Amino acid sequence: MVRTAVLVSGGGTNLQALIDKAARGEMPSVELALVVSNSAGAFALERAKRAGIRAEYLEKAGFEERLEALLREEGIGLIVLAGFLRILSEDFTRRWAGRIINIHPSLIPSFCGAGFYGLRVHAAALERGVKVTGATVHFVNEIPDGGEIIAQRAVEVLPGDTPETLQRRVMEQAEWIILPQAAEKVAEMLERS
Ligand code: GAR
Repeated sequence: MVRTAVLVSGGGTNLQALIDKAARGEMPSVELALVVSNSAGAFALERAKRAGIRAEYLEKAGFEERLEALLREEGIGLIVLAGFLRILSEDFTRRWAGRIINIHPSLIPSFCGAGFYGLRVHAAALERGVKVTGATVHFVNEIPDGGEIIAQRAVEVLPGDTPETLQRRVMEQAEWIILPQAAEKVAEMLERS
């Protein structure tokens, strides 16, 4: 099993999907060992604690240094960004190359990159009038949302959608499915390498 850290900033529904899959034995290569938030009030921290996973909040000053220390202390081999809304430095992503994955709520290369996060992504998709959107899991490199794509899943945009209704459908029909699958796939690859 690969000891895995999940980085979060908000509600943590993607973290919950990972916790639920792990509990059902559907991610045999992933051991959820640590949850780190850059936001003190993130409900994701509560979800982690309820699941018995170490949960830490790290403030902005010295964030990456402290994160690095925690990752080493916990023997982490894989980092999953699950609604983590801070951009990691080039140095950090280089050190962890091939070991960090992110879920993004659109079909990359549409509606991605700096400034596209959370509801803004879905507002932009509705504004452009696309009929299909979705979610993407990709490796993280120094370019925001620019790393190699691991998995994607398409979701229909329906008449009358708001950013909120579309966000929910993309989560239910794409994110909560492909993030655990991709985490397991990458962890399995890491185990074998
Ligand atoms: C998710 O939709 C995730 O894809 C998105 O933030 C939301 C977090 O929800 N991430 C990004 O926009 C990253 N660019 P959650 O906290 O309930 O998992």
